Amino acid sequence: MELTPETVVLITGASSGIGAATARRFAREKVRLVLAARRRERLEAVAAECRQVGAEVLAVPTDVTVPEQAQTLVRRAVEQFGRLDVLINNAGRGNCAAVEETTPEQLWRIFAVNAFALWYVTAPALPVMKAQGRGHILVIASVAGKWGYPYNSAYVAAKHAAVGFVAALRTELLGTGVEATVVCPAAVDTEWGMVTEGGPLGALFQEGVRHSKQVAHELGLPLAPLPTILTAEQVAEQLVDVVRRPPRGDVFTHPGTQELAVLVAQDRRAFEEQMLPFYLGVQRVYSQWRQHA
Ligand SMILES: NC(=O)c1ccc[n+]([C@@H]2O[C@H](COP(=O)([O-])OP(=O)(O)OC[C@H]3O[C@@H](n4cnc5c(N)ncnc54)[C@H](OP(=O)(O)O)[C@@H]3O)[C@@H](O)[C@H]2O)c1
Repeated sequence: MELTPETVVLITGASSGIGAATARRFAREKVRLVLAARRRERLEAVAAECRQVGAEVLAVPTDVTVPEQAQTLVRRAVEQFGRLDVLINNAGRGNCAAVEETTPEQLWRIFAVNAFALWYVTAPALPVMKAQGRGHILVIASVAGKWGYPYNSAYVAAKHAAVGFVAALRTELLGTGVEATVVCPAAVDTEWGMVTEGGPLGALFQEGVRHSKQVAHELGLPLAPLPTILTAEQVAEQLVDVVRRPPRGDVFTHPGTQELAVLVAQDRRAFEEQMLPFYLGVQRVYSQWRQHA
């Protein structure tokens, strides 16, 4: 899609991390932006930065897990700008708990923001885009939507649901002129790892990586390289490309992760063997944390 001053881009989870970086990056294209998240002050600060580079911005404080607020968000975007071209469903949150410790409340909240909200926000946007005969729905899922990680099963399952959401949506959009793309980042340097429910998942994984070296040494296993950590700005740059040139398949932002997804599909056991030192390293850290809790 060509980006012009008339193009309207709505981004959820725009108050920090990937969403904020994506807002700033699209602002440089001088499109019209609609930004949503719960933290009003953080959202307004991002909106102000975008306006400074010449973008027109509507900031709408929104909890995307509340269907009425999601509907209001889309309605206000269309009332303000008269159209909606790109919807980036980016809001998301992780959790940190073993399967047997995951509470029903955690499950509900994690599925609400990472999965249910995709329906809540996308559904009111679809009639607008279909009437225009043009639009692009992006969903920021994760490589956690393609394979598993320990101690965040609710997030992994909800991101698998997000991948499934786009797979189904694409079949409904064939012939409408509206695109749908799922984006699967690996580690990105944002606040995400520290705001997980149940504990800091980012710290668990960082410690797990350190322990994995010891595990690999003890078991005589090779230590498979893990995907490099990207900045939110690097991911934002890729998202602008995805909108400009809609890809034929799912988007993997980190080098090597598409190949890992293929391996998971073909031979999950071989993938798990490759990841074993990391998984066992994380297991060690988690059990140490629990002993000291
Ligand atoms: N960082 C990574 O390593 C990584 C890897 C793969 C995928 N992802 C995915 O990338 C997306 C962006 O995450 P990030 O890394 O940029 O983390 P982040 O900095 O924590 O940003 C998350 C954003 O989601 C918003 N949000 C959370 N709950 C919300 C709700 N109920 N309603 C509206 N907005 C809500 C937050 O804003 P408020 O708190 O102000 O509402 C925030 O703007 C997420 O979907 C995440 O799962 C991240």
